[in-house]
Amino acid sequence: MRLRVVELIERKRDGGKLSPDEITALVLGYSAGDVPDYQMAAFCMAVVWRGMDAAETAALTAAMVRSGERLDLSRFGRVVDKHSTGGVGDKTTLVVAPLVAACGAPVAKMSGRGLGFSGGTLDKLESIKGYRVDLTTAEFLAQLERIGIVVTGQTADLAPADGKMYALRDTTGTVPSIPLIASSVMSKKIAVGAHAVVLDVKVGSGAFMKDVRSARELARAMVAIGVAHGLAVTCELTDMEQPLGRAVGNSLEIAEAIAALHGEGPPDLTQLTRVAGAEMLVRARRVRDSRAGLGAIDKAIASGAGFAKFRELVAAQGGDVSMVDDPAKLPRAPHVQSLQAPRTAYVAGIAADEVGIASVHLGAGREKKGDPIDHRTGVVLHAKVGDRVERGQPYADVHLAGKPGDADAIAMVREAFRWSVRRVPRRRLVLGRIASR
Ligand code: URA
Repeated sequence: MRLRVVELIERKRDGGKLSPDEITALVLGYSAGDVPDYQMAAFCMAVVWRGMDAAETAALTAAMVRSGERLDLSRFGRVVDKHSTGGVGDKTTLVVAPLVAACGAPVAKMSGRGLGFSGGTLDKLESIKGYRVDLTTAEFLAQLERIGIVVTGQTADLAPADGKMYALRDTTGTVPSIPLIASSVMSKKIAVGAHAVVLDVKVGSGAFMKDVRSARELARAMVAIGVAHGLAVTCELTDMEQPLGRAVGNSLEIAEAIAALHGEGPPDLTQLTRVAGAEMLVRARRVRDSRAGLGAIDKAIASGAGFAKFRELVAAQGGDVSMVDDPAKLPRAPHVQSLQAPRTAYVAGIAADEVGIASVHLGAGREKKGDPIDHRTGVVLHAKVGDRVERGQPYADVHLAGKPGDADAIAMVREAFRWSVRRVPRRRLVLGRIASR
C-alpha cells in the first residue's frame, strides 16, 4: 500500500481512526527507516492527544511484534517476565529477578533505558563496569539455558520498532499515553516469548499515570493485549507519589538493590519485591499460592541464594563482580551536598517527578536522545513520607558531578519536599490489582 504518512498524522491529529493496515505500514516503515523520526514524533504526539481505541492499540502492538522476531521459549518450561511502567527510584527488577530465578523459575528480561524522568534498568546495570546489555538472541537463549536468568536490552531483532519509538518518545514529550505505553510494554513481552508477565503499573506524580483511574485503564489495556496473545498477565498498581526506596540514580540504585538482596533494603522496596516475586512464582506455577510464594522469596533472601544469582548474572554478562561484592567500588560522585531540615517536622510529601527531573539535570538521565549519562550522580533520601526529621538533621544527600546546573538540581530536590508540623501517615504502597485468569 502507498503510505501517505502526513495524511495519517493529520487524521489522528483531528481525532480520526487508523485501520490496522495503515498502522502496520507506518510502524514497519518507521522500523525500516523509510518514515523519518520527525514524522513518527508528530504521530506519537497526535496519539498522546487523541488516544487510540482497542483495535488500533492491538494493531500497533502486533505491528511492533512483527517488526522483529518472536522467540519460542517453550523448551525452558514456563518463563516469567516482569516489567514496570516506569517510576523514580524503581530498582525492583534488579532485586526480584535474581530472587525468582534463585527459586527455580526462569526469568527472561529485556529491560529499557531511562524514559523521561523515570530511570531505566539498563542504565543502572551499566554502572557495573563491563556489564553487557547488548546480548544477541543466541547469547540470550544460551544464558537462559545455563543460569536461568538474563537481564539485557532489547536485542536488535526483538520488537525493533518499539526500541526506536521508545528512544524517540523519551525526548519528544510523548511518553504519557495509554496506547503507546501498553503497546510498547506488551510488544516486548510478546516478542520475548514469556508465558506470564507481572506488570508493575506505577501511579502518582513520579509515574506516567498520575491517578488510579488512568492506571487501571492502562492495566486493563495491557491485560487485554496479553490475553489476546496467550499470556497470563498480572498488573499490580503501586504508589509512585514518592520515589521508591531511598536511592535515585544509577550507581546509587545498584548499591540499594544489592543491600535489598542481602535483606537490608528499605521497607517499601522490600515489600514490592516480595509482592512481585511471589506473584511471579505463582504465575510460573512454582508455588501453589502467594503465601507460599512469599515464603520462597523470603527464604531466597535469607539464604543468600538471590544475591548469589545476581552475582552469577553479572558475571555471565561480563560485569565486574568485585563491584557487586563491594558496592563501595561502584562509580561515586565527587561531591555530596547534604540537605538539612530547617525545623523539626514530618515529611508530608516528596514530589517524585521533581526528584526524577533533578536527577536528570544532575546527569543521571538523558535530556536528548542518545545523551551519555553519568552513573555516579543522583539523590539519596534519608526521610520518606511520614518520617519525622529533627531540625538540622539531613533529609537528603545530592550526589553531584560538579556541573553548572547542580545548584538548580539541589534547589529542585529541596522544593520536592513538603513538610508538616503534624504527624503524617505513611503511604500505602500496593493500590490495586488487575489480572487475567
Ligand atoms: N515502559 C516501556 O517499556 N514502554 C513505555 O512506553 C513505558 C514504560
